[in-house]
Amino acid sequence: MDKTSQIYLALFVGLGAFLVAQCVTPFEWMRPDRFDQINDKFYTVTGENCRSKREEDLKFRDDTVAQKPRYNMLLSTIIYSNRSSLLHAHNMALNRAFFYSFIYQQMNQTWDFETQPGLMYIYMGHAADVSANPGFINGSSLFFDNNCSYPNWYRKMNFNITLPLFGPRAWREDDYNEPTNWLREPSNNTISIHDYGSGRIRNYTHPQYKGNPWYSPWLPDLFEKDDSVRKFTYSVGIKYSNATGVFTKDMYTDYSFFGPPQPGQSSGQESLPVHISSPYFDCDRSNRWIVTASSPIVEFMPRYSNWTHLRRARFVGVTTMDVEFERLDMNQCPLAEGNPAPNFFAGTARCRPTTMCDPLMGFGFRRGGYQCVCQPGYYYPWWHDGPFQGLEVEQATWEEYQYGFDCLSVGERMLTPDIAPEFVTRKRRSIYTAKNRFMDTLPKTQSVILTPRQKRSVMEALKEHREEMKKLEDAQAEENPKILKKRFVPNKSNKGSASAHSRMKRAAVDEEAANRMQRIMDRKYQTSIKNCGDKKAYELFLPGDVNFGVERQFEAQGRTALRLAHFMSNFLQNVDEYEEFGDLKGDRRLNETQIFAEVIANIMGDFRILGSGVFFDRYKFRMSPPVNNTDPRFVNGITREFFGPYAFRTSTPQAGLDSFNALDFSGFKNFYTDLPWFQNLKSRWATNFYDLKKFTAKPMIRSDYNGTSSIRFEYYPLTYRAATYEDGEWLRPEFKCDGRVNDWVVTYLAPFFGKNDLKTRLEFKGVVTVDVQLDYLDINQCPSNFYVANAFKNTARCDYRSQFCVALEGKRFNRGGYKCECRQGFEYPFNDLAWYFDGQTMEEEHRKLSVGDPNRYHTLRCRIGAAPSLTASLLLVVAMAFLQLV
Ligand SMILES: *[C@@H]1O[C@H](CO)[C@@H](O)[C@H](O)[C@H]1NC(C)=O
Ligand SMILES: *[C@@H]1O[C@H](CO)[C@@H](O)[C@H](O)[C@H]1NC(C)=O
Ligand SMILES: *[C@@H]1O[C@H](CO)[C@@H](O)[C@H](O)[C@H]1NC(C)=O
Ligand SMILES: *[C@@H]1O[C@H](CO)[C@@H](O)[C@H](O)[C@H]1NC(C)=O
Ligand SMILES: *[C@@H]1O[C@H](CO)[C@@H](O)[C@H](O)[C@H]1NC(C)=O
Ligand SMILES: *[C@@H]1O[C@H](CO)[C@@H](O)[C@H](O)[C@H]1NC(C)=O
Ligand SMILES: *[C@@H]1O[C@H](CO)[C@@H](O)[C@H](O)[C@H]1NC(C)=O
Ligand SMILES: *[C@@H]1O[C@H](CO)[C@@H](O)[C@H](O)[C@H]1NC(C)=O
Ligand SMILES: *[C@@H]1O[C@H](CO)[C@@H](O)[C@H](O)[C@H]1NC(C)=O
Repeated sequence: MDKTSQIYLALFVGLGAFLVAQCVTPFEWMRPDRFDQINDKFYTVTGENCRSKREEDLKFRDDTVAQKPRYNMLLSTIIYSNRSSLLHAHNMALNRAFFYSFIYQQMNQTWDFETQPGLMYIYMGHAADVSANPGFINGSSLFFDNNCSYPNWYRKMNFNITLPLFGPRAWREDDYNEPTNWLREPSNNTISIHDYGSGRIRNYTHPQYKGNPWYSPWLPDLFEKDDSVRKFTYSVGIKYSNATGVFTKDMYTDYSFFGPPQPGQSSGQESLPVHISSPYFDCDRSNRWIVTASSPIVEFMPRYSNWTHLRRARFVGVTTMDVEFERLDMNQCPLAEGNPAPNFFAGTARCRPTTMCDPLMGFGFRRGGYQCVCQPGYYYPWWHDGPFQGLEVEQATWEEYQYGFDCLSVGERMLTPDIAPEFVTRKRRSIYTAKNRFMDTLPKTQSVILTPRQKRSVMEALKEHREEMKKLEDAQAEENPKILKKRFVPNKSNKGSASAHSRMKRAAVDEEAANRMQRIMDRKYQTSIKNCGDKKAYELFLPGDVNFGVERQFEAQGRTALRLAHFMSNFLQNVDEYEEFGDLKGDRRLNETQIFAEVIANIMGDFRILGSGVFFDRYKFRMSPPVNNTDPRFVNGITREFFGPYAFRTSTPQAGLDSFNALDFSGFKNFYTDLPWFQNLKSRWATNFYDLKKFTAKPMIRSDYNGTSSIRFEYYPLTYRAATYEDGEWLRPEFKCDGRVNDWVVTYLAPFFGKNDLKTRLEFKGVVTVDVQLDYLDINQCPSNFYVANAFKNTARCDYRSQFCVALEGKRFNRGGYKCECRQGFEYPFNDLAWYFDGQTMEEEHRKLSVGDPNRYHTLRCRIGAAPSLTASLLLVVAMAFLQLV
């Protein structure tokens, strides 16, 4: 073997050894974890194979959905936006349970039988739950227990006959393949409605029925055992009006009814009014993984019986609302105060030890819904802009992971000073600060747009700075080779995130805005039930730009009103009074008690809603004629001039209990149709219906009393045109000083439409409103652009040279609902287990500053980072110099 071949051999062996060493693939460090366990299950079940799967394979563990809303904790805890869809499903299930409990107990006389909700009323109600709540609710249903429902839509049947099972369920259908959908894109507007109590496998109460996790928590309810815990008596006062300008009675008539349980603060799981199931596969229907919130309907059973001693309040059915599991945020961070057990996915985040995990919202069931922020005492390396995104960490190779996602430690941290700014403003070494000169070249106003010339000067200074930093690092790397490996990690995904956005804003505090904010706050907090009567009319309003964020934060409440508007639109467009379908009776007209029940359910189901109403336009409300009517005038029903049922919640402070009242606005002497908001909405929708969306509902009904098979309803599909959430309108905040609500509210208006008298075209029929308590609105004081209509923008007291502002959730209508985090290249200087400055502290210190009290406002700043490396290299220089001398 000659020398060259030896060299080749050596090279070859070396290459082989190198390849073997490389066999550990770069992503092997990510071991399968609990997320993969669920993810595998998630993808193995499909619409095609779900029927043959075992029940265990069709559901996940209970703790895969963490932080389920608990009814008795809603007022005392903050519900973040990562749980808002689940909370809305919870509230809507409760809303429907209140509705059915009320209506069935209120209309329990034999002569009321005909005015109870008919078949289409029920079907359309659940279709509206789905059509008005895209992104929140994907399925809605009502399931009665065996022999618990009294149908009023069979001609030949006596009123006291019950159906064996009745379970209408509406869900959003994937309509991408419909013949009419030529775009071949899901429109999200098609709703299927099936009666689960009909067809081949119809006994959904059977223990072997798969996919009914809502059944066993409530039903069957056969024994009186714990009736006192599981049922609660609610009472509602209603004031009817039988003609324009008069009330039937001056006082509220009390109606009490049994409803879902009302737990105390410390009650356990068993007495909550809503049960949230573990995720399960909705086999053969929507074919998705869903989570269901269910709430019981209470009624006296048997309803029509002379043997009163046999009757008792019983759970006769459940209302359910489904949300998609895939859309529920999970929290991958380790268990902590904000992330309590049980949470199956806790600890699957992959943050480095120098960082800690912070969940992000809106990621759903997807890896990487978190960011790694520096631990207290660490700061971001200058080559990385802000927190390390979970998505990036999850895509990193082992090399990158090991060296790329660490924060650097802050040296010489200070104790939080009491006052004495002189004491803490230590002068930093001038050689170091000089390198950060480029900061001074930024314009003082910190506006985003720099002139090209400014930009160039910044860029040059920045380049200089980077080079110097690099030299510094290289010098350091000789001592510590690990650092050499650190590489710049591009931060693409950061662009969209809210915090990155506000980080880019460079603005100073706008003193004028701050003064205006003070005046707004004063007006809000100085108006109360005691003095509101003495105020001028304009003083009971706040400016419209206070509403910033309402559309998003109160979306669930707005959609509660929209739901009712959708139902009314569907009903008024498709139900032809007294239409008969052979054996099947068509629905009658709306009865006023039904609408009262709807608005009462709206306020009882959601604690943020203080009032809700349905306001019919003049002469647009047609009611059924009185039963056994002989008056020829009323043959085609009565048209009332006004009908405006409005329900409101009044808190009694001593017990913390709410009481619910409702009245008909047509009883007042001044007409609600003259109010500006009604006029505006009416004129908007008087002639032009171009914007209305078309919804399609596909009702499948039972073929006969026993539900032998499932057939199409006479009208299939039903279509209706209704407003979307964006078509509705949020009014500016108002103090309702009318002896009813007595609080600051923001009101959402949703119009509804029906056919005109000749049934030829659409017309505006009225408005559904909800009043939401203003106190629940989180204000945003962070800087934003000039065109953003936010009364509170640019009022956050951050030091924008070294900090950026992040608005916080759940701080409500108070100043200081933000945090000031350190900008890239700056570090948090104090040794107090925080890594940001709290907005409330900033506000308080600034207040002290402005009145001349001792304060530490000027110490609440971040200092320029990278101190320890400097200390080390200086030491080195000194040591070298010393050695040389020797
Ligand atoms: C109907 O309900 C009311 C109030 O709950 C009750 O007093 C009355 O006895 C019930 N009537 C029948 C026939 O069940
Ligand atoms: C509405 O229902 C109630 C209760 O059944 C009944 O007393 C009333 O007459 C009905 N109204 C009309 C107009 O039918
Ligand atoms: C229903 O009412 C009829 C007469 O009103 C009575 O004969 C029959 O026994 C009742 N049926 C039930 C199940 O109560
Ligand atoms: C339907 O819903 C999906 C999921 O929310 C959404 O991505 C899509 O854009 C929606 N389609 C339309 C037409 O709104
Ligand atoms: C459904 O199943 C339950 C439990 O096995 C049974 O009691 C009930 O009678 C069944 N209902 C029907 C309508 O078959
Ligand atoms: C309305 O009710 C009151 C009290 O019951 C009655 O005196 C009055 O005649 C009623 N008015 C009409 C128009 O029915
Ligand atoms: C129930 O009682 C009413 C009045 O007391 C009576 O008219 C009716 O016939 C009774 N019905 C039955 C089924 O006994
Ligand atoms: C929702 O966000 C809050 C605040 O960031 C956090 O404490 C909580 O753990 C999150 N919940 C889930 C389920 O992600
Ligand atoms: C319903 O089914 C039961 C038992 O299977 C039967 O006795 C009854 O006649 C059926 N009723 C109708 C209306 O078909």
